[in-house]
Amino acid sequence: MSSYRTVAILVLFVALANAKIYDRCEFAREIQTYGVPYEQVAVWTCIAQHESEYNTAAVNWSSGDHGIYQISELYWCSTSDTPGGGCNALCSQFEDDYIGDDTACAQLIYGQMGFPAWTTYQYCNGDVSSYIAGC
Ligand SMILES: *[C@@H]1O[C@H](CO)[C@@H](O)[C@H](O)[C@H]1NC(C)=O
Repeated sequence: MSSYRTVAILVLFVALANAKIYDRCEFAREIQTYGVPYEQVAVWTCIAQHESEYNTAAVNWSSGDHGIYQISELYWCSTSDTPGGGCNALCSQFEDDYIGDDTACAQLIYGQMGFPAWTTYQYCNGDVSSYIAGC
């Protein structure tokens, strides 16, 4: 019992250690360092807010969506122990606090499907300037 509890606490600690909640402006700045064009930044910041509230560890177990952009395991990443899907990635790598790989995958999805690949784009296809205001 006590060793089970130790493991449970350890797992919780690791999960918390790898999770990061981005500040809106921090997200907007950082994705540009991964090559996201400036004219897309406000839209991505809006999408990430609606998909995950900038939580890198967000997972929707019913839809199978992972990370800050809620990338779908149905098409883009693999839940097995070998990388797969359209982004040739592990879904679990989209749940850690490094969002460079998430952003590269989101850009690949965007290149194939555009922003409508995200259902939350319905909230982000108008004036999104407020998402990067003051950044
Ligand atoms: C998880 O995905 C389902 C199915 O797409 C959706 O209805 C639900 O709102 C999502 N949950 C969250 C917390 O985003």
